[in-house]
Amino acid sequence: MNILDAVQTKGNMIPDRYLNMTVSELEDRARAIKSKLGSKLFIPGHHYQKDEVIQFADATGDSLQLAQISAENKSAEFIIFCGVHFMAETADILTSEDQKVYLPDMRAGCSMADMADVYQTERAWAKLTELFGDTILPLTYVNSTAAIKAFVGENGGATVTSSNAEKMVKWAFEQKERILFLPDQHLGRNTAYNLGIKLTDMAVWNPITDSLEYEGELENIKVILWKGHCSVHENFTVQNIKQVREQYPDMKIIVHPECRREVVELSDDAGSTNYIIKTIEQAEKGSAWAIGTEHNLVNRLIQQHPDKHIISLNPYMCACLTMNRIDLPHLVWCLESIENGEQHNIIKVEDSIAVKAKLALDRMLELS
Ligand code: 13P
Ligand code: SF4
Repeated sequence: MNILDAVQTKGNMIPDRYLNMTVSELEDRARAIKSKLGSKLFIPGHHYQKDEVIQFADATGDSLQLAQISAENKSAEFIIFCGVHFMAETADILTSEDQKVYLPDMRAGCSMADMADVYQTERAWAKLTELFGDTILPLTYVNSTAAIKAFVGENGGATVTSSNAEKMVKWAFEQKERILFLPDQHLGRNTAYNLGIKLTDMAVWNPITDSLEYEGELENIKVILWKGHCSVHENFTVQNIKQVREQYPDMKIIVHPECRREVVELSDDAGSTNYIIKTIEQAEKGSAWAIGTEHNLVNRLIQQHPDKHIISLNPYMCACLTMNRIDLPHLVWCLESIENGEQHNIIKVEDSIAVKAKLALDRMLELS
């Protein structure tokens, strides 16, 4: 389901009373229902979630950790996924039939995942296999719909996350001569570049014009990057880096690999949200860091590490609006709905899609 479809669903209509409750009333309700449901309930939360939500998470993690946690949890009957739609879909695919996955606000989509639909992908595949024959393996960032994961699984490929992308791209090149990397061109480009593939051997597939953007000999192409991006991470710019370097010459810059190539190139380090957290945890006292990722995580790191000087790489950064749809009122509404036996905001991937998508996810999990 894309964001437009999600906005039109009833899942968006939270009763007014949740919006009128005080924070302490909401927190008390959340605590009471959590303790009543005990181990029947499990709440995973992505690092980009708000603190008001994260405080109730049973586990936090980056996309890979949350997929692993979902695959391992065989007991919870109710899983309230505090993250975005594609993550909840992944949790549904990796859990068993009798476990239900809930998304507290159905509008919590991902604009990047919406940049590749399965019809565009099938058209691209038809053209690309016509040009290159059976030489391409599709890989998709987990930030994609279940239908895209199913397409990739069916065609021998796998999912990747920002923390295992290098390993997965290496694996892909053991299978085929070329890869098609969906839907984030930046993660694909940064990963392939780190593995020694020249930028001139990378083409871009434009799903709007259904065409390959490349100047050069077609046979040199090793990586075909889908023309998608994260609208949050694209907001970190070379100009931001110049400003930090001028203002704080000793400050280190660490960014997420969803940032553009030139931003990653000029930074000191890059990695998944989990990698960024670990790097800051292990950094020396008194060290200074500018971080290029979603602002809830940057703000949390600032709070957790008063002994370090931490700033956002872009001080005017906007939050990921869809991640931020999940707030305390929606979480409590979801908890109360479960308590009352109501059936809404359940994420259920159609079986025919889930089976194929699981192939792609399992290939990744086996290698991670
Ligand atoms: P990771 O959790 O893999 O770092 O990805 C960040 C992200 O953008 C999730 O939407
Ligand atoms: Fe999607 Fe970017 Fe938000 Fe992650 S941060 S959910 S990739 S829009």
